[in-house]
Amino acid sequence: MRPELQRRVQRYGWDYSSPHYDTGWEQQLWPAQERLLEKANLKKGEKVLDISCGTGLVTFPIAKTVGSEGEIVAIDLSEGMIEKATEEAKKKGMSNIIFEHMDAEELEFPDSTFDIAINSLGLMYYPNPDKAIEEMYRVVKPGGRATALVWGRRSACGWAELFPIVDRRVESDVCPLFFQLGTGNNLYQTFQKVGFEDLQSDRFDVTLQYESDEEAIIGAFLGGAVALAYRKFQEKTKEKAHEEYIDSIQPFGNGSGYDIPGEFVVVSGRKFE
Ligand SMILES: C[S@@+](CC[C@H](N)C(=O)[O-])C[C@H]1O[C@@H](n2cnc3c(N)ncnc32)[C@H](O)[C@@H]1O
Repeated sequence: MRPELQRRVQRYGWDYSSPHYDTGWEQQLWPAQERLLEKANLKKGEKVLDISCGTGLVTFPIAKTVGSEGEIVAIDLSEGMIEKATEEAKKKGMSNIIFEHMDAEELEFPDSTFDIAINSLGLMYYPNPDKAIEEMYRVVKPGGRATALVWGRRSACGWAELFPIVDRRVESDVCPLFFQLGTGNNLYQTFQKVGFEDLQSDRFDVTLQYESDEEAIIGAFLGGAVALAYRKFQEKTKEKAHEEYIDSIQPFGNGSGYDIPGEFVVVSGRKFE
């Protein structure tokens, strides 16, 4: 897929996902996001860049940890996500976060601005994730860190059939590189290639729990990356796609809902002085 097209699919797709993302994914993703935050080892007063912040599921815990003397800049390509996160921050009374609309591959910050750059589950969606990791390196201060979380291998992801189910009904793949960085040592090697040192990599499993078919369908079709393609389906096509998806997750049924396996990889590195 052409990079420009992929960016557009992502930008407008996530606009449509933004009202449903928390319902479909908040509880399910938290164990993985919590592991990312442990590895990031944030300290009070730090200046943090949260890349692809989405609705703020990781941004708000970061803001709590760094406290009022810290500063967070949270960026995302989807204006819908930025609006949702901004509203939520207001409700929570969090004033140490600045939200900005920005592409992760073209960060609009000077070199050496942040103590740490965090990317939670954004890299799978970019046309050129290596460029985004180079950008993370550029904007952290010498001695600063970067931590990124991605989905692991396709074979370990219980909901992966969603992609072919949607791709069969559209002209081009929705997320062509989704499992690339989480396979083998790819994320670690890209961190190494751009210059990070003192690297750590951790691969782990999380069970994603959905209580009903309806909840699983919201997460898959409405709250995620395929939302733009799905929105254009006729009602009958939607029903057929739901049916195929529910069939594909049957092996993970627990009687009333689903315990879907998921694998994640988190990599951290340091920029030496
Ligand atoms: C799965 S969500 C992750 C949100 C949040 N970080 C979390 O952990 O819940 C992926 C996010 O990546 C954003 N995204 C996709 N392409 C992007 C790009 N090129 N630059 C910045 N953000 C992008 C989407 O808009 C979406 O909000």
